[in-house]
Amino acid sequence: MLIALGVTGGIGAYKAVEVARGLQKRGHDVVAVMTPAATRFVGPVTFEAITRRRVITDQFEAGANADIEHIALASTIDLLLIAPATANIIGKLANGLADDFLSTLYTATRAPLLLAPSMNTQMFAHEAVRRNLDTLAARGVRFVEPGEGYLACGWIGKGRLAEPDEIVAAADAILRPAGPLRGRRILITAGPTLEDFDPVRFIGNRSSGRMGYAIAAEAARRGADVTLVTGPTSLEAPAVREVVKVRGAVEMHQAVMSRAGDMQIVVMAAAVADYTPVERADRKVPKGRDTLTLTLKRTPDILGDLGRQRLARGGGPLLVGFAAETEDVVAHAAAKREAKHADLIVANDVSRADAGFDVETNAVTIVGPDGAEPIPLQSKARIAAEILNRVERLLVTRSAEAGHHV
Ligand code: PMT
Repeated sequence: MLIALGVTGGIGAYKAVEVARGLQKRGHDVVAVMTPAATRFVGPVTFEAITRRRVITDQFEAGANADIEHIALASTIDLLLIAPATANIIGKLANGLADDFLSTLYTATRAPLLLAPSMNTQMFAHEAVRRNLDTLAARGVRFVEPGEGYLACGWIGKGRLAEPDEIVAAADAILRPAGPLRGRRILITAGPTLEDFDPVRFIGNRSSGRMGYAIAAEAARRGADVTLVTGPTSLEAPAVREVVKVRGAVEMHQAVMSRAGDMQIVVMAAAVADYTPVERADRKVPKGRDTLTLTLKRTPDILGDLGRQRLARGGGPLLVGFAAETEDVVAHAAAKREAKHADLIVANDVSRADAGFDVETNAVTIVGPDGAEPIPLQSKARIAAEILNRVERLLVTRSAEAGHHV
């Protein structure tokens, strides 16, 4: 979703930087619109670096009006969020004044407006401001109430800009219909693991990370709180709460097991090495011999350990594993589901050229408690959505069984 983040000239403007970041972490695209007064508190470059978009600061900037920018933006944004919103901008919006880019954008857009007011306590209580707020509320504008406490002006009372997390959550709530994944803590693994046997060489596999990254992006889009544990890839990580970069299987095991206790869902899309060299030479292994023998040992089975742990504790995260197979795909996947005590196994026929490792598309069979369901060839983004639809269904069923609402 595209959000125009309006920043006006209040001391809370610095918190808007955190708001922009938080919105991105939830998968939204942000364009910052700053009033001239806001630029006295925070530099536009800060927002530009974070949003990776040009920051709009001036309605009459040369070159910005070729497509009548406020009209172009007005018709593409999904939400106009103003944080902090000063008494001045509230007054302008309530009364239809349009003398700068932000107020013009408001009158031109049909996107919902969310305001996070911030001002001195007396100003917030002033009859003129109250009237303007009432006018906006009657128009359907939504608010994130300011907090109480010490204000920058030295007063104590109501008027401090709400915390960035609260503003982000309020924006997100307007944009997303509440689904079962919203607010759930989900850990997703992606990519290969690389098993080093000297300082420059390793044993690896062909996983690009695309499948796991697509699931992470889709989960974030659905409002989940996403942790992505990734082996080395060349992909840009989606904007999620935490990205943990690992290299080998042992490191991935440690990264997953140390976080799994806090998770409600774990999806293991990574192609974790089953074996790793027993020894890692400190120096580059010299060539010369005609053959080289490496002795390998089993790596920890991350999904297996998660399944065993859940069984032993009588509860834990919902577990989704993958199975990369070349024959008897569904039977092998069903066996893996049993052996690893997983809820769902996403079976990949990796003998196909258009599915599995290092391609843009995938075709899978999802093996769950109700049997096997084939999902035909499509983009990994859409496969990710299908997988998460099944996860959501399971969450709903489990909650109903446990007797509470999702
Ligand atoms: O990254 P891409 O290029 O997009 O390719 C996607 C993919 C083919 C890597 C992905 O769709 C996939 O199939 N991932 C799992 C690959 C795999 O390791 O399959 P497996 O059958 O060997 O393992 C079964 C399950 O156990 C997997 O969930 C795996 O993450 C997990 N596992 C495996 C070994 C191990 N030591 N620990 C594990 O947790």
